[in-house]
Formats: sequence, structure tokens, C-alpha cells
Amino acid sequence: MKHLYFDHNATTPIDEAVLTTMLPYLRGSFGNHSSVHALGREAKGAIEQARLHVADLIGAVPDEIIFTSGGTESINLAVLGAAASYQGGRIITSQVEHPAVLNSCAYLERAGFEVVYLPVDNQGIVKPSQLENALSSDTRLISSMLANNETGTIQPISELSAIARQHGIPFHTDAVQAVGKIPVNVDELGVQLLSLSGHKIYAPKGIGALYIRCGTKIVPQLYGGHHERGFRPGTENITGIVGLGAACQLAKQRMAEDSAYIADLAKTLWRTLNERIEGVTLNGHADKKLPATLNISLAGISGESLLMNLDLEGIAVSAGSACSAGSLTASHVLLALGLSDAQARSSIRISIGRGNTLEEVAALIEALCRIVPRLRGEGGGQSPL
Ligand SMILES: Cc1ncc(COP(=O)(O)O)c(C=O)c1O
Repeated sequence: MKHLYFDHNATTPIDEAVLTTMLPYLRGSFGNHSSVHALGREAKGAIEQARLHVADLIGAVPDEIIFTSGGTESINLAVLGAAASYQGGRIITSQVEHPAVLNSCAYLERAGFEVVYLPVDNQGIVKPSQLENALSSDTRLISSMLANNETGTIQPISELSAIARQHGIPFHTDAVQAVGKIPVNVDELGVQLLSLSGHKIYAPKGIGALYIRCGTKIVPQLYGGHHERGFRPGTENITGIVGLGAACQLAKQRMAEDSAYIADLAKTLWRTLNERIEGVTLNGHADKKLPATLNISLAGISGESLLMNLDLEGIAVSAGSACSAGSLTASHVLLALGLSDAQARSSIRISIGRGNTLEEVAALIEALCRIVPRLRGEGGGQSPL
């Protein structure tokens, strides 16, 4: 069976060019970046080259990039590391964050901090006035994601960070879903901290980076050697780092072309679904969103059942976020948008990647047109699930 993959917000395949760049570091070039001999210098050179590519993609200076094991670790380092020099105080975030942020904040709550979870409007956007109202004289950090992993909705980060700046509060953005897909520039966003992850942008899993603007107070969360300027001790994952660097370089070269191509596929998908299936609604903001992400509710069906029926036909989509798949609770993101429990449970997320084709989109549409009426009990057909 041919597999059709429409779950790129969960993870992406490693790009062939990225893999080619990585392979020498899995074979002969196995040096430790801290060694002074030739192999060590080669490793150091490769890591610094990768740091340059990551910095270049987000408009940063290479020294401001710290390699980590992925988005989750970057976020932990940003949120916990910014709070660590205080005994308590307030952290402000939003209700629609990824669990990496929500659970870092939950840990801080247990440690005595107060956390304010800002609501979003019915399109998933945090209102700057809500942030203004939530500020206190002891606010230590504001953390708001750039693009939502479930709906693709893009937050007005530069407006939010301007408020933070007026009050001298550091601002972190979880840009894991945005980097490599839309232009991201740390100065335009006005952030002090930005998290990103390799496996969302055709690099391997287990590699990520944290941007730390020069002068930002961050306490390391691991103890060891002086790797990564002391912010993240431990011998560097050189193959992962080289892969992330190559993926960032590629993303920069291809972004305009890829996003136009993906936006076209998404438009065709959305238009045709609307024409052919009753009761389809889009969740999140219609325009301020990642073009590749379509989160839709299909009235009268279970998103989980639809996902499993599509899977039987070799088509991968997601219901809610990958991290909450299999959990019995409705998506916290969709509930925060004001969807009912039933509406949230009737949703699937389709996320398109650069490798998808128009023929694959057509096959997905045909499958949905077959399965959705069956799940609704229309046309007398029996659903296998
Ligand atoms: C918005 C967002 N933040 C953070 C993460 C965590 O990244 P990683 O899987 O690299 O730990 C993800 C991954 O799903 C995500 O989508």
C-alpha cells in the first residue's frame, strides 16, 4: 500500500540533502568538538558552520544559538532558566501553548511561581490588551508561541513583545512550528528567547536550538562541562547539529517556493472539501496561519475514527496534537477557541509538506468523501471502525 503522509506538524522525513550532509559525521569524522587534534577541529568547524546557518535563518548572531536535544529542551531551558534566578513571581503564557511550555509552567507553579494563562479569541489569537492587563511588577517572563501546532494560527508576537519590552520583561517564543515555514526574524519579533526544533524542518529528531539574545539572564538547567558556552553541557550531537544546520540552510533557500507551492495545495484541499462535504469548518484563523496546516471539524463524526479509517487506507493525518494523540481528552487548544467538546472531538489536523503532490491531495479528498458519509451513517455503507 502506498502511504500518503499529511502529518508534517508532527514530524517530517529527513531531507536527502540533509542526510547527505550528516553521513560523514556518522562515519569517519567522529571527532569530539572539544579535542584539539585534527578530528576535533573538524567537528568544531562543522558545528560552527551549522550554528551560522541556524542563526542566519532567524536573523541572529551565531553566538546567540545554543544547541539542545530538541524543542522541548529548548523551551525548558528558556522558561525554567529565566525563572531560576528568582524565588517566585509571575510567569505569563497562553492557554494554547504546547505541553512543553504548559508543563514547564506547571512545574514553576509547584515551585511557588504564579502562572497566568492568557485566553485566546475564537480564532486562537492572544489579544495584546489581555497581556497588558495580566502584567504585574513581579512578572519574570512572558512566553507565547509563534505558530500553533494544532491550528497553525500565528500570534502577534511583535505586538506582545513590545508590551514586554516597555516593562523590561524578557519574552520567549516557541517557534518550533514556524521556523523554516514562514520568515522568522528575532529582531522583528523583538524576542529575547526563541525555541526551534530540527524534526519539524526535515532534520532528524533529537536536535534543536535555543536563541538567547545577548545579555538575557538564563540559568543553565544541566551541570557539566563548558559546552555551548555553559548553557548546555554535554558532548555535542554533531550529526544532529550538522543536520539542523543543513535543514536551516535549505529552508532559507526554498522557503518562498515551498510555501507558495504548499499554500496552493492547501487552498485546493480546503475549497474542494467545502464543495464536496457538508458541515466542514476551519479551526483557527483563516489567514494569519501557517499555510500548510488545516485543522477542520467535520460535524457528526469522531476525529479519532476518521483518523483510523484514513490510516487503514494508508493516509496519515492527526487528531489534535501528536503529543495528545490517544489521550481521551479533547484538544485543549480547540477548547480554548470556544469549540464544544463534541466539536473538538470531531476535528482532524492535516499538515502538508514540501513532498506532497496534487495527486496525493486528490487521493486524500477522495478518501474523505468516501469515509465521512460512512461515519455519519449516510448512504447505508458500514464503517470498518
Ligand atoms: C509548538 C511545539 N512546541 C514544542 C514542540 C516540542 O518539540 P520537540 O518534539 O523537538 O521536543 C513541538 C513538537 O510537537 C511543537 O509542535
